Amino acid sequence: MKTDFQTIKVDRKDGVAVFTINNPPVNQMSPQMMQDFAAAVSSAYEDSEVKAIVLTGTGKNFIAGADITQLKLVKRREDVMEVALRGARFLSSLETGPKPLIAAINGNCLGGGLETAMACHYRVAAEGVNLGQPEVQIGLIPGAGGTQRLPRLIGLPNALEMITAGKPIKARQAWSRGLADEVVPMEGLLDAALKAAQRFISGELNLRMRMTRSVNHRLPSAAEKTALLNYARVMTFQKAKGYIAPFKAIDALEQGLGFDIDKDIEKEVALFCDCAVSDVAKNLINIFLNTRAAGNLPRIAGIQPAKIKKAAMLGGGVMGSGIVHLLLQGGFETILWDINDGAIQKAMGAVRKTFDYPIKKKKMTAADLDQKIQQQLTTTTSLDDLKDVDLVIEAILENMEVKQDVWKQLDGICPAHAVFATNTSALPITEMAEVLKDPGRMIGLHFFNPAHRMQLLEIICAKKTSDPTLSTAVAFGRAIKKVPIVVNDGPGFYVSRQLGGLFGGAVYLTADGVDGAEIEAAMVDFGMPMGPAALSDLTGIDINYHVNKTFEKRLGERYKVHPLTETVYQTGCYGRKTGAGYFDYSGEKPVPNKKVVDAIARYLEENHISPKKLSRQEIVDLMLANAINEAAYMIQEGICDRPQDMDLAMIYGTGFPPYRGGILRYADTWGIPKVYETLLKLEKQYGSRFRPANLLKEMAASGKTFYPEE
Ligand code: NAI
Repeated sequence: MKTDFQTIKVDRKDGVAVFTINNPPVNQMSPQMMQDFAAAVSSAYEDSEVKAIVLTGTGKNFIAGADITQLKLVKRREDVMEVALRGARFLSSLETGPKPLIAAINGNCLGGGLETAMACHYRVAAEGVNLGQPEVQIGLIPGAGGTQRLPRLIGLPNALEMITAGKPIKARQAWSRGLADEVVPMEGLLDAALKAAQRFISGELNLRMRMTRSVNHRLPSAAEKTALLNYARVMTFQKAKGYIAPFKAIDALEQGLGFDIDKDIEKEVALFCDCAVSDVAKNLINIFLNTRAAGNLPRIAGIQPAKIKKAAMLGGGVMGSGIVHLLLQGGFETILWDINDGAIQKAMGAVRKTFDYPIKKKKMTAADLDQKIQQQLTTTTSLDDLKDVDLVIEAILENMEVKQDVWKQLDGICPAHAVFATNTSALPITEMAEVLKDPGRMIGLHFFNPAHRMQLLEIICAKKTSDPTLSTAVAFGRAIKKVPIVVNDGPGFYVSRQLGGLFGGAVYLTADGVDGAEIEAAMVDFGMPMGPAALSDLTGIDINYHVNKTFEKRLGERYKVHPLTETVYQTGCYGRKTGAGYFDYSGEKPVPNKKVVDAIARYLEENHISPKKLSRQEIVDLMLANAINEAAYMIQEGICDRPQDMDLAMIYGTGFPPYRGGILRYADTWGIPKVYETLLKLEKQYGSRFRPANLLKEMAASGKTFYPEE
């Protein structure tokens, strides 16, 4: 048989053809790989010397899914249908084919990869590898038989969980559920697969009996199926509102699991196509691809990042302790500096606490943590000890003089190549850098609270930040597994100002007589994790007030603090930390806080405003128009220029609903002329805060969108 294909290498051993897939980066099922796979299989079928086939991958991947960049290119439903049906039929032909296939699962076995493995007649998995159907995470469902084969192997309840949540399981769990026939150490994988092949050749294992389609004993009765799927629908509705795929997956299970698997797979493929052509899937696929590309900026293309071995953390408070967690997990040698021994002791307690979760989840033991701390972490109260670090991250008191004083000292202590990063939430970094001999070494690394959990890292370039500093900061962001989004210096940088834009419309609505509870509900319905009042209570009404004051001072008249914001601030109820803000937290459940409710009522009365009823869509329109306008102003001012990054920042930093694609994607879907007209109307009604940015006016006139047409 032919042994050399572009993406597959074939070796022969004792009547067995071993196919090794090598299709970087993740052994994805690209058109070329599928073509090679089909040709290799036919060649093996034709060769009478080949009695069985072992299928395996290279490096960390068996097959980690389909090639979604290809899917993006297919536009029409019929075309998706044709490609998907071809793939599904090919896997069915392997399952019902004349020779046994054994999957030797050496690494990630995801999506189409798991569907391929399930079409094989025997599965050996290496210890620790991931197996899963993560399609829902990009708005899809398995579309090559996954919904029909998985329940046959592991039963409907487990299959439902894997398919609707998209979370992979490890080899051992896969084995205990019946998805893998054996789990072996990685070094014994191929041997085990070859042994299994010999068991088929000797007749000990029967090809027909081992076809997944023949395994019916785990399928539920009709009554069980109805009960399970009804329950799954209710649960999914609570968890995945706004998404399509999990519901389509349930439909596929409901319409399938019958006697004619080929027909059932066709139904699955049709449901897959419904997902594939939906806006939700397009949004989620774009987010997935853009996340992979985050930080790949033309500005730093080809600029080698400096190697970071040793990093210093200044301040082990709320933020510092979370960042130390990241440094330790990232394998960096770490020095934690704080003002005195008491502060260090407190900081160490806080650092340890950040590991409670991984320890509880058995991802590590308390002993592992002790060892990590002992091997990687030293503490000090002397800045002189930072003389050989490659990176300093500062998260001390939010005060320009205090911060500048520390940086000035470090300028004379740290080596010239060391990057200086500040985690300030609002101070101008360009000004902070002025105390340095070389301001080019300073950059903002804005972490979000809790730093060790939130995925976003907002990287802020000051006026003089150098390209190598930026390149190093982006590489560091990736090394600690964050999504690095680069913006320029300005009040609130990007995320805080954008969030202000997204929720800032609420006060205008409230001052116009709209019920606050309706505004909260409209934004939660839209998909935000919480409404503007609940978020204010969480971050602190006083903090928000001061941020607003700073915006007013630095950005001008459009940002004038609304008189109702002053009124609420004057109540002295600052949110959760004072026990009450918009809501009162003294009881079991938060309820509207009478003091703030009364203050708002008085304001409305004094201004002769009567209650006003708006639909949730009208509320969302105002809030989103304001958000889009703020984004346009920031693009105009040069704070940021990459819509894909801006959208990712809001998704990862604030919980903006991913299925909506982001604020700018939403703007394009809504239609820029409509956004512009809405803003003109709002400006007339509520004043200059809603004055549309020139950029929007130009875009509306020229028919441009934020994202290029695809
Ligand atoms: P924190 O109050 O928990 O910690 C402050 C740290 O500064 C402590 O380690 C403390 O010992 C140290 N410190 C106190 N006085 C000092 C002085 N005179 N000189 C040097 N260090 C001193 O504060 P947190 O929340 O960790 O904030 C730290 C920085 O991170 C601030 O710049 C803040 O704006 C920023 N930030 C905070 C976020 C948050 O949600 N808490 C989010 C993003 C940024």
